[in-house]
Amino acid sequence: MSPSTRLSRAAHQGIAHPAQALTRWSLGQALPSAAIAVRARRGDLQGQVIRATHDSQELPLELFARIREAGPFYRGHFALVTAHHAVVREVLSSPDVQSGIGLDDDRPIARLLGWAGRSAPMGPLSEPSLLVTEPPDHTRMRKLVTRVFTVRAVERLRHRTEQVAEELLDELESRAAGGDPVDLIDTYAAALPVTVICEILGVPLAERPIVRRFGTLAAPSLDLGLPLVRFRQVERTLREFDAWLRDHIEQVRRSPGDDLLSQLVAIRDDDGARLSDAELISTAGLVLAAGFETTVNLIGNASVLLANHPEQRAALVAGDASWLRAVDEALRFDPPVLLTGRTVVRDTEIAGVPIRRGRVLTALLAAANRDPEVFTDPDTFDVTRENAGDHLAFSGGRHYCLGAALARMEGEVALRALHERFPDLTLAPGARRRDTRILRGWARLPVDVA
Ligand code: HEM
Repeated sequence: MSPSTRLSRAAHQGIAHPAQALTRWSLGQALPSAAIAVRARRGDLQGQVIRATHDSQELPLELFARIREAGPFYRGHFALVTAHHAVVREVLSSPDVQSGIGLDDDRPIARLLGWAGRSAPMGPLSEPSLLVTEPPDHTRMRKLVTRVFTVRAVERLRHRTEQVAEELLDELESRAAGGDPVDLIDTYAAALPVTVICEILGVPLAERPIVRRFGTLAAPSLDLGLPLVRFRQVERTLREFDAWLRDHIEQVRRSPGDDLLSQLVAIRDDDGARLSDAELISTAGLVLAAGFETTVNLIGNASVLLANHPEQRAALVAGDASWLRAVDEALRFDPPVLLTGRTVVRDTEIAGVPIRRGRVLTALLAAANRDPEVFTDPDTFDVTRENAGDHLAFSGGRHYCLGAALARMEGEVALRALHERFPDLTLAPGARRRDTRILRGWARLPVDVA
């Protein structure tokens, strides 16, 4: 994005231009969603996958298998879709593809979208978010951010994460004392990662509920086909989040602490380069949102799987199986992120298939995790699976999840602490999955722990 576009976007921050917002919704949400519904009815398997995930968060395994049978890529109406582990990996690491969907071009619709985008709020999928930035900017930003998010920094957080888990479990235990079921998501699965990521980013205790609310309301921003009311709510939330984040970063600049955000504000690389203000705000926002909107799903999804496989859970509690491997198996079997999209930027060949510039590619991460070429009995949940760690739940290539080590550590600590305290935890009636599509997990998960 050119500096002038950046400035004009900055100038528009906080102003909800109604005509532009309506155009953004029509072209970005309503039209594609209607087109997908039509194509799905005509037999397009990608359309059917999207429609299936609108109806339920259950993975459409049969559709995944049919897409896989079509070869390295299934030629969908909207994209080339792959459900093969090896092809997904190749797509994600190809220098000839970029993240995001669509190229800038001169067609009237693209110009209209460009105009409408001028008043769009910053979000996880708007520049300069790491998720949609490509080299050389991506390489520079990622190098700086990884200097702060080191494996050592994550290991230093382990002890604190264990303390947080025990404190939350004390609270859960006292709430359960009355004999009623307790919502595991609210009291534990969401509370733990939000506390950890807020400590990482130096967010004061009193402001944590605000952050959690922002995350929950903004999570559908990754989805397609939002109704207008919901779309407006998401955009309003993103705007408020942006304003709050700017204030918070100002605060950290004025009085830095020993948290990772204070380090990120100050960090420079060997040539003295640093993150620009827009990059800093975007990265902090992404880390905050990605830091708990996905990990909550890992903890929730894994707890359900373990409750449904009590013999495997007992082996873990007894120390006969590895918690870390169980975390990876849960990520493989019921991943928090369904898929990701890419666009081909120059004519290329992937998995032996020639692909033209401009083609959109859909990488079904959840389907790659069930590829029988890589995982024996892929539809069996098995915490002793030797290659469980080969899943693609954290994506791959240069956009490989920056928080993977943190998420794994949090998942391991959270699941171990929960099940060591309540080895006989059972699911109670009233569980409800989230209504987001790309992000997959539980919104409500009542459990009995007595
Ligand atoms: C179980 C938990 C998590 C899952 C399943 C997950 C999944 C993912 C996926 C699939 C991507 C790449 C998307 C793509 O290729 O288009 C990604 C990127 C990212 N994740 Fe995570 N994530 C998790 C936890 C976290 C945490 C705790 C953080 C906090 C540090 C985090 C920060 C990021 C960032 C900053 C990126 C962008 C990296 C880039 O584009 O270079 N994630 N994550």
